[in-house]
Amino acid sequence: MLLGCDGAAAVLKEWPERPYTLTLPDNSPIGRTITAQTIRGFLAAGCAPSDYVNVFHKGEGLHPARFTADDRVVPASVQLLLDQGCTIQLRELNRWHPPLSAICAGIQSETGCTGYVTAFITPGGTQGLDYHWDQYLGIVVQLEGSKTWELFEPVVASPYRDHAMSTSLWQDEWVKQWQESGPDQTVELTAGDVLVLPRGWVHNPHSRKSAGASVHLTFVLKERVPLWIAERLIGSAINDSRFRAVIPPSGLDPAKMPETIEGVRSLILDYLAGLDVDEMSGALRRTAQQETSHATL
Ligand SMILES: [Fe+2]
Repeated sequence: MLLGCDGAAAVLKEWPERPYTLTLPDNSPIGRTITAQTIRGFLAAGCAPSDYVNVFHKGEGLHPARFTADDRVVPASVQLLLDQGCTIQLRELNRWHPPLSAICAGIQSETGCTGYVTAFITPGGTQGLDYHWDQYLGIVVQLEGSKTWELFEPVVASPYRDHAMSTSLWQDEWVKQWQESGPDQTVELTAGDVLVLPRGWVHNPHSRKSAGASVHLTFVLKERVPLWIAERLIGSAINDSRFRAVIPPSGLDPAKMPETIEGVRSLILDYLAGLDVDEMSGALRRTAQQETSHATL
């Protein structure tokens, strides 16, 4: 539905490391039944839940009190903010729009990556978010108008969860360097174009050259990493009573702590050595394809 059969097969064969673009397949429901109007409709009808909508102006988030009442986004406020050049983000649409939920579930079933889909409406001639990188692979689908994506090679390797987030590591001189050197790639997306943006790639997306509003969807794929499996292998140790035994306060004494840690490390090594890999394989495969809780990503 996003990449076409050949495009999807290519991704499953060789996971993308560099950004590239494609065209939405002709038979995709996206762009035909899920359109920019679908996205605007949630806002116009007053159906959008306040916790799932962000508004940005020149890179800064607005306080939700500016555009919400009774746990919903106020349609008139949104229109006013769009007229003032604000970008509207509708987060995790798959949690409140069943067709997008089905598409995200399909992506997870095929790839083992969990994720969500977010929509952005950016008025023509403006910019919402500026330079940053994300902790996941994004598949951007342009629904209406156009958006320019300036792309730069990652500055950190494999950012994940809250490790190496652009907000926590940011150095202002990077922007100066990028502006001087220019982007590694510049991509201009118009309706029906798709951008595959690997994790960690820096992007500066804007609609400054677009006369009309830009509406796009970003499908997020949270990739699995060895830590994800490691946590589940260790987590399964709860079934072994040795891991549920008390560590008395004396064992947490600063002088005793090294010995306690050594003991637990030995226990872990012993436990992992005896783990039934076949049994864990089935369980972890099912978890990769089905788990959706944000607490366990
Ligand atoms: Fe991003």
